[in-house]
Amino acid sequence: MSIRPVGITGVGMSVPERVMTNADFEKIVDTTDEWILSRTGIRERHISEPGESTSVHAIKAAQGAMAMAGVTPEQVDLIIVGTVTPDMAFPSTACIVQDAIGATRAAAFDISAACPGWLYGTVVAQQMVGSGMYNCALVIGAEMLSKLVDFTDRNTCVLFGDAAGAAILQPVSEGRGILASVLGAEGAGGCHLQLPAGGSRQPASAETVANKLHYIHMNGQEVYKFAVRVMNEATALVLEKAGLTVEDLDLLIPHQANIRIIEGAMKRLKLGPEKVLINLDRYGNTSSASIPVGLCEALAEGRIKDGDEVVLVSFGAGLVWAAVALRWGK
Ligand code: UT7
Repeated sequence: MSIRPVGITGVGMSVPERVMTNADFEKIVDTTDEWILSRTGIRERHISEPGESTSVHAIKAAQGAMAMAGVTPEQVDLIIVGTVTPDMAFPSTACIVQDAIGATRAAAFDISAACPGWLYGTVVAQQMVGSGMYNCALVIGAEMLSKLVDFTDRNTCVLFGDAAGAAILQPVSEGRGILASVLGAEGAGGCHLQLPAGGSRQPASAETVANKLHYIHMNGQEVYKFAVRVMNEATALVLEKAGLTVEDLDLLIPHQANIRIIEGAMKRLKLGPEKVLINLDRYGNTSSASIPVGLCEALAEGRIKDGDEVVLVSFGAGLVWAAVALRWGK
């Protein structure tokens, strides 16, 4: 089946107001600014207030993306939210966004693909718009991992931040837009990063709460090894599929989890700092929001121009990974 070119025509982002610095964490767990900065690259992150849910920022990010693309809510055919921190198990956060923005014609669903959730959603939307089924898709990555971390566990609580990023996908001219994509999963590694209870396997009970099974449980070193491997492999693979080389690349926007993972990829791919977006010092790991927020900032800073070749790459719980290569422009 032939598929028409699809690209990103607008982006938006939103973060909670409250900022927590490493010094703030020194007051609540046995950690130091030096440890957090040297082991992760994070200086501060935005943390939501009680009662401030994922959809609040998903909606703001969506409105920003629609404004930039010049799209009205009625024009949106499809809403996909990549999130593992939905407002609730159901209805989907996508349906909550649909109602709030007044996208009355849109189909809406969530995708559970952790940090690459926005990239998974983008590829699904590309297929649906590319096939001609829809003309305008809104893809959001929105996450509030602060709601799922144990603020007494120094291994995880310092790592994450809350944010939302969104993009509008529409048909674009030949040679522009998404050039290639790769999606992958290694479910066998799922045990390394999970939230064990609250689903059908271990429904919520006084015991699951007492055993802290509603918090993120992570084997950081195993996730780290997986991340280093797939960041390189996925970037190389998507460039090859797009018919590009590393030299062609104008900007890499990697998932912002750990500066050492990003620097490892830069070294292996021989990419200088001018070709890599890094903002985790200010946001921490915002899971599915990390790539669209990075895209927003890169555009705002003038780091992406018409015709530029950009690769977006991410990894996360599942374990899953994803990469998209695109040529910027309409
Ligand atoms: O989006 C995907 C999500 N996850 C990831 O990408 C995580 C990938 N993994 C990582 O980024 C790193 O593994 C971490 C940043 C999570 C941990 O860094 P590490 O260099 O692998 O440290 P480690 O787990 O080997 O821990 C080393 C030491 C331990 O102490 P002992 O056992 O050597 O005495 C930890 O208890 O560092 C300790 N530690 C801390 N110390 C101060 C762990 N967290 C902290 C902390 N402050 N916040």
